[in-house]
Amino acid sequence: MSYIANSIEARDVASLVHMQTNLRRHLEEGPLVIARGEGCRVFDDTGKEYIDTVAGLWCASLGFGSERLARVAYEQMKKLGYYHLYRHRSTEPAIELAEWLLKIAPVPMARVVFQCSGSEANDTAIKLAWYYWNAVGQPQRTKIIARQMGYHGNTCAAVSLSGKPDMHAGFGLPLANFKHTEFPHYYRRHEPGETEEQFSTRMAEALEKLIQAEGPDTIAAFFAEPVMGAGGGIVPPQGYFEKIQAVLRKYDILFVADEVICGFARTGEMWGCETFGIRPDMMTSAKQLSAAMQPISAVLVNARIHDAMLAQSDRYGNFAHGFTYAGHPVAAAVALEVQKIYAEMDIVTRAKRLGAALETALEPLRSHPLIGDMRGVGFIHGLELMQDGAARVPFDPALKVGARLDAAAARHGLILRVIGDRVVFAPPLVIEEEEIADIGVRLGRALDEVVRELKAEAVA
Ligand SMILES: Cc1ncc(COP(=O)(O)O)c(C=O)c1O
Repeated sequence: MSYIANSIEARDVASLVHMQTNLRRHLEEGPLVIARGEGCRVFDDTGKEYIDTVAGLWCASLGFGSERLARVAYEQMKKLGYYHLYRHRSTEPAIELAEWLLKIAPVPMARVVFQCSGSEANDTAIKLAWYYWNAVGQPQRTKIIARQMGYHGNTCAAVSLSGKPDMHAGFGLPLANFKHTEFPHYYRRHEPGETEEQFSTRMAEALEKLIQAEGPDTIAAFFAEPVMGAGGGIVPPQGYFEKIQAVLRKYDILFVADEVICGFARTGEMWGCETFGIRPDMMTSAKQLSAAMQPISAVLVNARIHDAMLAQSDRYGNFAHGFTYAGHPVAAAVALEVQKIYAEMDIVTRAKRLGAALETALEPLRSHPLIGDMRGVGFIHGLELMQDGAARVPFDPALKVGARLDAAAARHGLILRVIGDRVVFAPPLVIEEEEIADIGVRLGRALDEVVRELKAEAVA
């Protein structure tokens, strides 16, 4: 495609590298330039309006523009636009945010370590697991287990933790010592007649088999998202985390809960850990922590981990870890204001109500010929496009049904998050019920358009 000289599209393709994007196609097709946002809606540079059904990257919980948060950032920048947390220095916003996180944590936690992204939070949690086992005299515990299709970020370690082969390919990853166990996609992977509980037992047995094969005393930690986000919005089946945690306890393996997506009411409780009865040793948080208005993330560590950190710091004279912008006062001040807004909105109650509205909006599409399965929890929903839903026959990947739906939805003013043939919904928490109903209507139109396309091609 040729671009108008100096157009925003021409400048984009000549200057930027886009993440998670087919780079060659991008050169040919150019960008969708988002010019502004208002509540759950964004507008491109032609003025076309879209409802964003996944809050950007599961993060813009308060929508895409905020006068109130802008004022907080402005005031903080005037007062103290930067300071760090190295060498005993501190700032009040960072202290206050840490106190707040400890207060609302799903299980007793001892301290908060700040970073700037979800990836860095998971990277830090990996380092802390190794630090812990070194402190307690088991330095051979170096292996980390996560799940196939799990997503934990894209630093070298966080992407190694992630179980997505497409993100390892060509980079020589994952790093050694990162192992992946089965993921609990009940709809796709259950045996005929197998109940959710039986399936969960099978998942826990697979984990135990992996632990035994690797050697239990070589395993440092297990990482899991309460609901798998980028893996397709996969809600754990009945009994899953209870059985998984029993195995981890048996071998004294640390549990790190990745709450980067699930935190702040996504699953219908403040934390995914609460929804699924998870009792982690460490917990990572980002995204909705600051409603994505500022980059900030956190690792919460329990007393067991913190005691070991103290012991290591005694031994080496220093906790030798850090990031320049970790706990940035502007980001922390904005995150604190976001937390105040959450309290005013009562996000837990709101997420439950909006989740029910989303279910109602999507329900009429359950019997649509392209849809095989639909399930969700709280205000996160996933649906699966299938050739034959009841018989669980997927579409031929060559048909690119997911990509077709993505394109059709955009034509109908809907930004979707399509992962293969799964579609995930996690709209901003500020969305209203009428707007959720509109998602159902627009999605229905897009699905019908894909059916017409597929039929036309079959005839052609
Ligand atoms: C569950 C989970 N963990 C970690 C990350 C990485 O966060 P970031 O992109 O801020 O590094 C993501 C990002 O989508 C995520 O979904």
